Amino acid sequence: MNYSVAVVPGDGIGPEVTAKAVDVLDLVGDKFGHIFNFVELEAGGVAIDSTGEPLPAATLEAARQCDAVLLGAVGGPKWEGLPGSLRPERALLGLRAGLGVFANLRPAALLPQLRDACPLKDEVLTASHAGGKPTFDLLIVRELTGGIYFGERGRDGNEGAPDASAFDTERYSRREIERVLRVAYEAAAKRRSRLCLVDKANVLESSRFWREITAELAGEYGNIETSYMYVDNCAMQLVRAPGQFDVIVTSNIFGDILSDEASVLTGSIGMLASASIGEREAGRKYPPGMYEPVHGSAPDIAGKNLANPLAAILSAAMMLRYSFSLEKEARAVEAAITGALDKGLRTKDIVGKSGSTSEITAGTDEMAAAVIRVLEEREE
Ligand code: IPM
Ligand code: MG
Repeated sequence: MNYSVAVVPGDGIGPEVTAKAVDVLDLVGDKFGHIFNFVELEAGGVAIDSTGEPLPAATLEAARQCDAVLLGAVGGPKWEGLPGSLRPERALLGLRAGLGVFANLRPAALLPQLRDACPLKDEVLTASHAGGKPTFDLLIVRELTGGIYFGERGRDGNEGAPDASAFDTERYSRREIERVLRVAYEAAAKRRSRLCLVDKANVLESSRFWREITAELAGEYGNIETSYMYVDNCAMQLVRAPGQFDVIVTSNIFGDILSDEASVLTGSIGMLASASIGEREAGRKYPPGMYEPVHGSAPDIAGKNLANPLAAILSAAMMLRYSFSLEKEARAVEAAITGALDKGLRTKDIVGKSGSTSEITAGTDEMAAAVIRVLEEREE
């Protein structure tokens, strides 16, 4: 099969890690008989520099034409002083909204190779894990194109006056809530069949609406165990007993915050991938999908062969799985990553964290090369 993939490298370490993900996809193509056609597009700081806009209309249009989008990272100190509407982050929000990718999947699992990178004690991990093992494996499904990120905002009153004010609005429609809940329920069905809605229903009306709709859907997804948790408690439970969670589904802003918290538990944000998906439109072969590492542009280490390419490569694996239903290929990539870790290779963000003395410090290039070697040697 032929697949067209928009590659948006962005800023900072974005270009170097997406280049590795592209190499891996090329190899997947060779091994499994697919052709990936890459279309490179500009967004973020690089686009501001070349066009004056973080998300040029041509980028969004071209991204929409492709079967899926692979994004690196956007932003950096160079563009920090710009007004809100011109900051590189606008490119991300514009791509999310423009592609209609309303469900953001952020898996966070502890790999045995990185056990010591997780700051939690064994007893904390084992206590909440069904199998009594010192590990966890959860998936945060974050609503991505609604809520306070996209609600009405503004300022009132005379600037400087005591009653001058600023506001942002959390508003969710039934449709927005229902569609992301369905993605989360379907994900839970392929995992351990448990879904937890995280909200602030003791205070917020919008959260009470989420609960009502979840309760309605819970009946429909009878095989999934549905539970509810307040977000403040969830923030605590993630560090007290992360093994209790399977799928967490939540609003845009709560998901933003909780996914950063969860990332620390996995040892390094340099390992975390994400998938953002939408609904397939009539006449299109695939649903819209955008895949990106959770880490940012990390300008301090850009261009130094220090960035961990695994999150970008894992994001490519998520693309294979969620956009193209290439499960076998996705698993092969994931296995190549664990294979490289098993060989002892560690980028700087994860070195010295396995408790083993046979670690080899690797740069971006060496780590990606190891993944590619394992994938090449693999018998299908
Ligand atoms: C994320 C990031 C973005 C967000 C920023 C960069 C706009 O923090 O993807 O989690 O808040 O969604
Ligand atoms: Mg965030």
